Amino acid sequence: MIRKKVMIAFGTRPEAIKLAPVILGMQKDRGRFEPYVLATGQHDEMLSQVLHLFEIKPDRNLEIMTAGQTLFDITTRALKGIESVLKESRADIVLVQGDTTTAFAAALAAYYEQIPVAHVEAGLRTHNKYNPFPEEINRRLVTVLADLHFAPTVFSSRQLHKEGIPDKDIFVTGNTIIDALLMSVRKDYVFKDNRLNTLDYQTKRVIVLTMHRRESFGEPMRNILSAVRKIAEVYSQDVEVVFPVHFNPEVRETVRRSLGGQKYENIHLIDPLDYQAFVQMMDRAFIILTDSGGIQEEAPTLGKPVLVLRETTERPEGIDAGVSKLVGTDPDKIYNEVRRLMEDPSAYERMATAVSPYGDGRAAERILNILSTVDIHGTRKSKAD
Ligand code: UD1
Ligand code: UDP
Repeated sequence: MIRKKVMIAFGTRPEAIKLAPVILGMQKDRGRFEPYVLATGQHDEMLSQVLHLFEIKPDRNLEIMTAGQTLFDITTRALKGIESVLKESRADIVLVQGDTTTAFAAALAAYYEQIPVAHVEAGLRTHNKYNPFPEEINRRLVTVLADLHFAPTVFSSRQLHKEGIPDKDIFVTGNTIIDALLMSVRKDYVFKDNRLNTLDYQTKRVIVLTMHRRESFGEPMRNILSAVRKIAEVYSQDVEVVFPVHFNPEVRETVRRSLGGQKYENIHLIDPLDYQAFVQMMDRAFIILTDSGGIQEEAPTLGKPVLVLRETTERPEGIDAGVSKLVGTDPDKIYNEVRRLMEDPSAYERMATAVSPYGDGRAAERILNILSTVDIHGTRKSKAD
């Protein structure tokens, strides 16, 4: 059997989490694969947290991140950096994940070198080019550049069919985030930050909050925070809000201005948690408020209701399953939805259902089987299940 040289390219926290099961699988399967791990370093500390946890050492890290980087910075620095590495690695195929600017730049670089591209988590769409921004267009551009499309769900595969992607190039695999999640859940976990061990998980309800999307910068984020202040005040005896604040300076500044001046005993502003710690925090949560893509995929497996702080989502499966609700950024709407879940046990029970529309934890295994049997130029030899 010919070993495939696969370059796995990523740059941010969620890409690393979702590619970790694929990389670890290839590293254990040297008979079929010769993996080359390329980090662009679009994120630094938030990426290192993941790499450290999964014990992944990139073959190269381009370390492109600068404080307050623009989309132009990321695109040009990643594209130029990948050029030299692609030549050196002599990859047969380049694997990218999701919708970040790193994913787009790596797919474009591979195309310029006429190297086939495989896209993990293909086919998600909002059909709104500015929401999420720039992720909707990044993901569509990767579709155009890719030769193999790993759709996480049947729903996302249908989107690719509609766009004219040939049937033989689309594979429904599940989302690798469920693989990563199941590798990371620990019931007996002790947080490194002792403040998180001493929260009253028995009698208080923990609300986990995250937000970072570019289209929410400014007023939408201020609105979200004003809802969170009201929740913390009204439920001062019942609720603890745990808010790992993304390192994006735009997010940090908005949080500092909106919450920093006043001390809320029950709003805990902390740095981003490493993935394993964050998974345990989600597992202990009553509900999750987030604009994250990945968290929308993880929460259904944990049976945690999610209020999605966005106007659109490319992940309707969680909403259809009844676990997530798209609430947008209007403060009254957010407050009212939280209040309903706080005060109406049957409404809560309807959402707190453990279902897994995004996968069964075997997505990486399927991706490896497909990659090992596929003709490198994009024509399948045999169908992997
Ligand atoms: C990026 C992705 C977004 C993804 C998100 C996951 C793009 C355009 N955006 O958004 O799709 O959902 O990652 O979190 O690809 N920073 C640090 N340390 C870190 C990471 C970030 O200091 O470890 C700061 C830097 O000042 C950096 C800024 O955050 O310039 C923004 O990072 P960037 O990758 O441009 O945007 P994100 O909002 O993280
Ligand atoms: N996450 C984490 N630590 C945190 C917050 C989130 O490890 O403090 C994980 C989360 O479980 C999910 C991923 O990061 O797997 C989501 O990343 P993010 O929200 O930054 O990006 P998105 O998914 O929106 O692209």
